[in-house]
Amino acid sequence: MSDIEKLKKDYPWIQTPLIVGAPMRLIALAPLAVEISRAGGIGFIGAGTDVSSLSSHLQYAQDLLSNLPSPLPSSSDTLPIGVGFINWGASLSASLPLLQTFKPAAVWLFAPKSISSLLEWSTEIRRVSPETKVWVQIGSVVDALSAVKIIQPDVLVVQGADAGGHGLVKGAGIVSLFPEVHDAMNELVKSEDVKEPILLAAGGIVEARGAAAASSLGACGVVMGTRFLASKEASIAKGYQDEVLRASDGGQSTVRTKVYDTVRGTTGWSDAYNARGVVNKSYHDAVAGMTDEENKELYEQEMKKGDAGWGVDGRMTTYAGTGVGLVREVKSAREIMEEVREGIEGVVERLVRLVRL
Ligand SMILES: Cc1cc2nc3c(=O)[nH]c(=O)nc-3n(C[C@H](O)[C@H](O)[C@H](O)COP(=O)(O)O)c2cc1C
Repeated sequence: MSDIEKLKKDYPWIQTPLIVGAPMRLIALAPLAVEISRAGGIGFIGAGTDVSSLSSHLQYAQDLLSNLPSPLPSSSDTLPIGVGFINWGASLSASLPLLQTFKPAAVWLFAPKSISSLLEWSTEIRRVSPETKVWVQIGSVVDALSAVKIIQPDVLVVQGADAGGHGLVKGAGIVSLFPEVHDAMNELVKSEDVKEPILLAAGGIVEARGAAAASSLGACGVVMGTRFLASKEASIAKGYQDEVLRASDGGQSTVRTKVYDTVRGTTGWSDAYNARGVVNKSYHDAVAGMTDEENKELYEQEMKKGDAGWGVDGRMTTYAGTGVGLVREVKSAREIMEEVREGIEGVVERLVRLVRL
């Protein structure tokens, strides 16, 4: 069975090329996840490190899905969306009963204390909800190999350094990372008795050209986070969304740093991770030598300003990827996805003309 056939069997409602909505913590909740799946992709709820409200998000998603005029066809009665966890902080024991009850089509694992600690998660998920597929997001060849050897995920999301939000400090863009992971997987399945995962690409993909490029690299589908920050269904402050629309030239206007974690107090991330966000005053002050304490205090004061706290002269964090400069308009998740899918055809036609000239 080809990878595309496998995807269509496991997630029968999808259209290809597959577009996945990243599980962005506190932003990708039931409305966005459900809308992405309704539009032929796979939407994820971003549970992050704190699963205390996950039950109500899943219940809401289930209600939205059961009130559709025509239900999405799912495999073995799974809920046709996924849930993403940030593993260094999320509680497995609190998550398991929810996964058993709601049976999401996929669970996305990311940033464990060590890759081997994912073994307990994957074993337990497969025990309580055998139909739920296990996805793992990795950002290096070495982590890809460990993940596949240790837990044999169904899907591996290859995250490049352009990605918004958290990722590895030491990273490569998907143009080089993806094919190297792909080759490493091919070699691994030849030498060891492991199941080859389906590979998806993430990081810097915000429109059709990036999605087509990722498909050319060998990806079976793409994951988009930053693009969906400017979607109507995202649960996001207006100041944040406006900043995503304003920022351009993403390599210059965003930066990978630990400063935003420091000022926000999200300090459980290991040294291997930092996060990409739009440059603002917290960052400039940190570079200029301001102490963490003062920077954090100023951040906390800025929170009182609401939407006005975002912007180049603001201190509220705008996690976003380098693709931010290509995001110009807020659209519905469906419009975004249709535009990407239709655009890919145009890119491929151009490519075919180019190679045949
Ligand atoms: C605002 C934001 C929040 C994110 N939160 C999470 C998260 O909670 N868990 C996770 O696995 N990835 C998270 N990510 C990373 C995404 O999974 C994905 O790798 C990234 O969005 C892809 O790159 P792009 O933003 O350029 O599309 C987040 C990304 C953004 C932009």
